Amino acid sequence: MKKPSSAGTSGPSAGRAPKGKAAAGAKAPAAAKKAAPPAPPAPQLAHLELEGRKLDLEVLTGTQGERVVDIGKLRKELGVAAFDPALASTAVCQSAITYVDGARGRLLLRGYPIEELAAHATFVEVAYLLVHGSLPTLEQRQRFSDLLNLHSMLHENMRNFFGNYPEGAHPMAVLSAMVVSLSSFYPEIKLDSTQEEIDITVTRLLSKLRTIAAFSYKKSIGEPFIDPSHKYTYCENFLNMMFRSPVSKYAASAEDVAILNKLLILHADHEQNASTTAVRMVGSTGANLYACISAGVCALWGPLHGGANQAVIEMLERIVREKIPVAEVLRRAKDKTDGFRLMGFGHRIYRTYDPRARIAREICTKLFRKRRITGPLGEVAMELEAAALADPYFQERHLYPNVDFYTGLIYRALGFPKEMFTVLFALGRLPGWIAHWQEMRADASQRIMRPRQHYVGPAQQPYVPISKRR
Ligand code: CMC
Repeated sequence: MKKPSSAGTSGPSAGRAPKGKAAAGAKAPAAAKKAAPPAPPAPQLAHLELEGRKLDLEVLTGTQGERVVDIGKLRKELGVAAFDPALASTAVCQSAITYVDGARGRLLLRGYPIEELAAHATFVEVAYLLVHGSLPTLEQRQRFSDLLNLHSMLHENMRNFFGNYPEGAHPMAVLSAMVVSLSSFYPEIKLDSTQEEIDITVTRLLSKLRTIAAFSYKKSIGEPFIDPSHKYTYCENFLNMMFRSPVSKYAASAEDVAILNKLLILHADHEQNASTTAVRMVGSTGANLYACISAGVCALWGPLHGGANQAVIEMLERIVREKIPVAEVLRRAKDKTDGFRLMGFGHRIYRTYDPRARIAREICTKLFRKRRITGPLGEVAMELEAAALADPYFQERHLYPNVDFYTGLIYRALGFPKEMFTVLFALGRLPGWIAHWQEMRADASQRIMRPRQHYVGPAQQPYVPISKRR
């Protein structure tokens, strides 16, 4: 399990004070007469007291100045666990992949601002950056692209699976099942796998997920599969598999390819979100990479996470269909007795505009203006956005549009059906999931993730035979 990966992202804590003798240099030879190196700073401590017993907890500082309190010894020393049901105050791991500054709306992937990556890189480069830890050279990018091409086909027996899903099967259901099925067709990464084997498995997954996604769409509309082709770049290949048919002359436009590249980059990683945590959780048990990614796909599907992009469009469609006034939509979103929430708004981390939403909004407005396709859904979306941003309820709670508020509108304009939106999110998030899986695997401090609970159920009670139960 603990085999270093190519990502090379794990290391000693950025903020943990070095262990060992504080007065290093005390025995330096007198002849050297050099000033003793400064003593390492004393670790910053937080103090906890329970029933007269005191515990010092080390405060760790990350490379961006963010601090966490290491409570790892809480249970051992004081016999209690921390209670944090939605993990809102809990850092579950040390990571060197992605940094999110929720207060200032900043997102860095391996230190690079999302704005720069979206403006200049391709999705394949960002995938390489996340998985390998640095942007590729020309040669590295070529080799990576060659591997992506080489491994894009699906085993013939896997193709047959698609025929057995019922009409109307959600592509996320198909995707999760197909991804885990890959483990029966292709070798898994083992403890003694070579770097070459790891690279091939990772690339195989990145490439085949795209093929599975396109095939699941073709199956859902009853059209024959279009095979991947070495002639195309990653995104071009996907658009071609999605939209070409034996009787159409489809060729992806450069603009559509560029937009898809940007959207996949926006989704490429977002630190410890629910799906990435699912990948890490399953990975911590030693399960294979395919099983972990399938768990990530399932976690992403929910409407509070990646499924929000489909939910936003369904909400807008309903508003338009039933002619619901925007004021009424907001009234319901604010009503605590109503389960309705404004989809595409709010975020656990961001207390300001999601930087990904800013970029997606720009793509959306440019595309709509250029193609003159705003339509009723786009109009309602803009009206809702303006009304919510001006509403004290949303302002007081720092609720801004998130990335999913705009991406569905863009995907729709590119011709994707709404059931495919979350699949597109999964395609974009895949390199992030893989990077986190690799990082977790290389982290020597990683143990099986096994949270505690705060039990409030019945105390012990005697078993009641069925004849005596009331
Ligand atoms: N509409 C109305 N009220 C909201 C919304 C919303 N979309 N989001 C949060 N609130 C309220 C919430 O009711 C609470 O109010 P109060 O303080 O009065 O109890 C307050 O804002 C804080 O919200 P929370 O539920 O504690 O926030 P959370 O961090 O647990 O949930 C969220 C985050 C994204 C699940 C939530 O904002 C939400 O359900 N949004 C809609 C779904 C959505 O768009 N999801 C996509 C997230 S971005 C893509 C991704 O990375 O997954």
